[in-house]
Amino acid sequence: MSSRFWWQGAVIYQVYPRSLMDSNNDGIGDLPGIIEKLDYIQDLGVDAIWISPFFKSPMKDFGYDISDYLSVDPIFGTLDDFDKLIEQAHQKGIKIIIDQVLSHTSDQHEWFLQSRENRSNAKSDWYVWADAKEDGTPPNNWLSIFGGGAWQWEPRRQQYYLHNFLTSQPDLNFHHPEVVEAALDNIEFWLQRGVDGFRLDAINFCYHDKLLRNNPAKPVDKRLGRGFKEDNPYAFQYHYYNNTQPENIYFIEKIRALLNRYPGSVALGEISSEDSLATTAEYTDGDNRLHMGYSFELLTEDFSADYIKSTIESLESQMTRGWPCFAISNHDVARVATRWGDNQNIPQKAKLLSALLTTLRGSVCIYQGEELGLEEADIPFDQLQDPYGIAFWPSFKGRDGCRTPIPWDDAKPNAGFSEAQPWLPVAESHLQQSVRLQQKDPQSVLNSFKKFLAWRKEQPALLTGRIEFLSLNEPVLGFYRISESQKMLMLFNLSNQNQEMTLKLDEKYEVITEHGLTSGSISDANVSLPPYGCLCLNLID
Ligand code: BGC
Repeated sequence: MSSRFWWQGAVIYQVYPRSLMDSNNDGIGDLPGIIEKLDYIQDLGVDAIWISPFFKSPMKDFGYDISDYLSVDPIFGTLDDFDKLIEQAHQKGIKIIIDQVLSHTSDQHEWFLQSRENRSNAKSDWYVWADAKEDGTPPNNWLSIFGGGAWQWEPRRQQYYLHNFLTSQPDLNFHHPEVVEAALDNIEFWLQRGVDGFRLDAINFCYHDKLLRNNPAKPVDKRLGRGFKEDNPYAFQYHYYNNTQPENIYFIEKIRALLNRYPGSVALGEISSEDSLATTAEYTDGDNRLHMGYSFELLTEDFSADYIKSTIESLESQMTRGWPCFAISNHDVARVATRWGDNQNIPQKAKLLSALLTTLRGSVCIYQGEELGLEEADIPFDQLQDPYGIAFWPSFKGRDGCRTPIPWDDAKPNAGFSEAQPWLPVAESHLQQSVRLQQKDPQSVLNSFKKFLAWRKEQPALLTGRIEFLSLNEPVLGFYRISESQKMLMLFNLSNQNQEMTLKLDEKYEVITEHGLTSGSISDANVSLPPYGCLCLNLID
């Protein structure tokens, strides 16, 4: 166990800085706000925080549109604040992972301002430019995830540029070696400031097909969610050509070679391709690629024992050398307490979900508020901020419902997040789940989460052991975690109804109760699991 890397089996707490804590009362969370909440984060028992982008940005995609990779946006603070954050987090034993949005920049980035001027400037090939077809239409049929075509006309060059996301997020052209070098320089800037790693946004989107071939159409029954809804026309194509090109591996290996010069630093890729599990396995295959990758497979609406089992078994069978990472909630999808299961018995369900997530093999990302069991907030159309939601309303309301401010103190204005009106409203329903109330209640989702994580830290099988699933009937999910010194059996009832079943075990197990989450029982071969209940057993030798 002592030989594991810090990031293997780590719990990474994702901070969406706009909504964690506002220190200067402008309604938007900031870096000093994170510093203020470091004690809270440390108390959770997590190993690291991943901070969503805080770099200079016009905020069209709330920071995922960067106009300067090397400076902090004034709404979030200063570079000094960031240095303080690193120092204080490190003093508390918390690692810092930052977001790097490499595949595209903001259209306000100086590289793009120069590139768009004409076809002969020094940065003219730094983005993906293409002529119109003879009839004036874009060069191919590629679509933007956020709606409409992926090509925007630029009058200065009389050409189209590619944007896989918003029109204000032009895609960089990584086929150009100078772009690769510039991206690596930017990464190194933050390594030198002491960060412990990177979450690499949309990392498989860095390269496009040089020949700009059309994506083939996808049949209706294959348009399954990958972080976007199946009624989004983006789902109507196989994305064979606009992302996940073979050249991407070359770039990943360059990133890894750089990180190897900063021992202990880690790269976690966000991957969404036509076969995200295969791509995750490929991008993490070996010591010269990414350390870890996560995909949207557990960020969809599918919530059944069979789906979770088959997804993880599929990843396990393909990922022979890599290290998995899982998230069931983040800033891009509806909060898991609402997305999965029914809307009854939420606190118990939230406890089960965190226990399930943190006992899978791999590292995990916990999204701020998940430890409180927060549900998706309902934001009326006139208060929406997310351009994705505005474009697809009402069939998809966008990502604002999972981005509302954290309810610190239900007795204070704006739940103690800010004295000013927050950029998104604090959800009324979140007040009863405030940190203040939960800290006082030993049975709260928050206190259970902390107790469970503290216990998990001491279990070698959960940190690095292998995983083996049992074949059980819905809605019960069961798996073993096995290390050299420990064998554990986890059973989860993914429904809100009691489950009784017979389970013949060849070995002798005892029920573990010290983490406080056991809510079922086993006697001889009879297992009983209450609604959203879980049983955790240890092999007795
Ligand atoms: C991020 C999103 C962002 C998109 C474009 C992602 O996958 O997580 O929040 O909108 O990349 O940068």
